[in-house]
Amino acid sequence: MLLQIKIYLIAVSYFLGALFMVLFPPRNYDLSGAKLRMTRSTGDKIRFKPYANQKMVMTTVEQFRRHDPDVVNVVHLTPVTFENRTILALELRSDKQTRKPGILIIGALNPMAWGAPNVILELSEKLLYDASFQTPFFNDYDWYLIPLANPDGVEFTHKIRSQPPLDYEDWVRNDTMRVHTRPSQWHKNVDKDAKEKNPACFGTNINRNFAYHWQDDVHRTPHRCCQYYPGAKPFSTAEAKAIRQYVDKLGDVINLAIHLHASFSPKKEYILYPWRYSLRSPSNFRTLQDIGEYAARQARLPDGRLYEVHQGSNDERIAGTLSDYVSGVVGIDLVYLIKPYHEMFPNFTDNKHLNLYVKKSLTTILSVVRGWRSSTKQNTLSFFGRDVEF
Ligand SMILES: *[C@@H]1O[C@H](CO)[C@@H](O)[C@H](O)[C@H]1NC(C)=O
Ligand SMILES: *[C@@H]1O[C@H](CO)[C@@H](O)[C@H](O)[C@H]1NC(C)=O
Ligand SMILES: *[C@@H]1O[C@H](CO)[C@@H](O)[C@H](O)[C@H]1NC(C)=O
Repeated sequence: MLLQIKIYLIAVSYFLGALFMVLFPPRNYDLSGAKLRMTRSTGDKIRFKPYANQKMVMTTVEQFRRHDPDVVNVVHLTPVTFENRTILALELRSDKQTRKPGILIIGALNPMAWGAPNVILELSEKLLYDASFQTPFFNDYDWYLIPLANPDGVEFTHKIRSQPPLDYEDWVRNDTMRVHTRPSQWHKNVDKDAKEKNPACFGTNINRNFAYHWQDDVHRTPHRCCQYYPGAKPFSTAEAKAIRQYVDKLGDVINLAIHLHASFSPKKEYILYPWRYSLRSPSNFRTLQDIGEYAARQARLPDGRLYEVHQGSNDERIAGTLSDYVSGVVGIDLVYLIKPYHEMFPNFTDNKHLNLYVKKSLTTILSVVRGWRSSTKQNTLSFFGRDVEF
């Protein structure tokens, strides 16, 4: 008799429990896509080969979106570039109902950083599908990614890659030589002025074109042909305009911004922070330096060296850059410029160099995020004086 009553009571409480679940489902159950999504280990191999151009970026982000519309959003930035390409932003948010700290990453503003879009596609793939990246990286942050910020420049440098190189200055001057050679380097987009007579004088360096202390680093405007030509006025390039509109709109949502760049000298690799236009230090310079050093220790380079971590202007003053704009005008506190080594015009079919750049950059980006986590003690518990991440 007593047993029957017990069983009856247990059955009733289970029923009430189940009823409660149905009437008031836990919010993660229907809102948070991340918990229910398929995961797989993406392993050590890089998936995105060869060097990505606009077409590959577009196809890949569309695939992500089609596969996971709940957590992936693709934004087409305006205006379009000089050659009518659309810069794409990929937004990955594990739970669209709540705002999480936002991370912005912009790649390949400089078209010599061929591997940068590959890094950002690889990162997206891992955030979306690799269990070891979901916690802590995907579930705790909203990601705003611009894999390829200078699609025209990348298209141009890909196209001319198999021609023999000629020193840049000679390439500009010598009409006969130019026909069958390529410039030794190209750091600009490809926009043209109708008035310009020399057909070799085109392109603006987008990373000099942002309106924050524009041209403060030079006494007179560099020549139109120069690789550092900053534009006729700030935001003269479509790329800088498009990024500005997007980033201004995001504003407060972003807590950490990373410009994924490249260093073109072997064994000189950097994690830099504002300012680049001036030797003046930013007010939170101590935090920036500490997070940078933490990241450098975590992302020790394959040959055992460490990234050099310092303010961007220590080596050279450069004005009108993306990182200074994002810090000085948009007002994002944590801004980094990451420069792992990247060969200029590397062998297009041999993936060794791409592989190395992608792996180094991924590790470095995630180390900066970890450094930020540890500096704010997000999700860490102090355990007998040791910080334990959970
Ligand atoms: C871009 O599109 C505009 C308007 O459709 C057109 O006038 C222009 O020639 C195009 N530019 C290029 C480089 O294709
Ligand atoms: C261009 O290069 C060719 C071959 O090196 C040389 O003969 C010619 O004088 C050069 N022309 C100019 C204008 O420098
Ligand atoms: C590029 O790499 C491939 C494969 O390793 C090799 O066969 C080819 O000769 C290389 N090309 C150049 C221009 O070095």
